[in-house]
Amino acid sequence: MSLGWVAVPTRVQLVWAQGRGGAIGRDNTIPWRVPEDMARFKELTIGYPVIMGRKTWDSLPARFRPLPGRTNIVITRSDDWSADGAMRARTVDEALVLAGPEPVSVIGGAEVYRAMIGRATDLRVTEIEVDVPAADAFAPEIGDEWEAVYVGDRLTSTTGVRYRFVNYRRAIA
Ligand SMILES: NC(=O)c1ccc[n+]([C@@H]2O[C@H](COP(=O)([O-])OP(=O)(O)OC[C@H]3O[C@@H](n4cnc5c(N)ncnc54)[C@H](OP(=O)(O)O)[C@@H]3O)[C@@H](O)[C@H]2O)c1
Repeated sequence: MSLGWVAVPTRVQLVWAQGRGGAIGRDNTIPWRVPEDMARFKELTIGYPVIMGRKTWDSLPARFRPLPGRTNIVITRSDDWSADGAMRARTVDEALVLAGPEPVSVIGGAEVYRAMIGRATDLRVTEIEVDVPAADAFAPEIGDEWEAVYVGDRLTSTTGVRYRFVNYRRAIA
């Protein structure tokens, strides 16, 4: 085992979209359609590694898997999991080491956001004005250590859904 320094990302952004009450998913899908948010997701993540949980990987439609133009790192506790186009990590730390020194995006789901928010430097949240009855996956709590550095205007999607973008940065103590 190497005892040298290992380069891990200095910027770790969590990227998610949440409905009312912090809902982010139901039955392993995202329960709304906001193409403008998908475009922003691509803009925020393209060219850099992305880290996701195995269930989020499973939830991606086959034609988006792996997410193109990004190193796809999937966290799983399973030793024998593998998928074309994905790197497997067994822990949060292993995922960050695989990502290397570049900025990295953590793209869900709920369990992985909870496991990684303590390592994050930035949160990129899309607030979607929809109720999600029977939601079963929720965004992590945004505590006092986070400062909103950008609050976008409320916009209306081509699908009619209202939304806005909010960016947070870890507050300097
Ligand atoms: N709205 C959004 O922005 C957004 C974004 C992404 C996902 N989602 C939604 O979120 C839901 C999925 O979230 P989820 O919480 O159920 O699943 P998830 O976080 O995507 O994946 C959970 C799995 O990841 C692995 N894992 C998680 N934490 C780990 C850790 N600390 N160490 C090792 N492995 C770990 C485990 O895989 P194994 O079971 O293989 O061991 C675990 O079962 C879906 O509904 C999806 O559509 C929403």
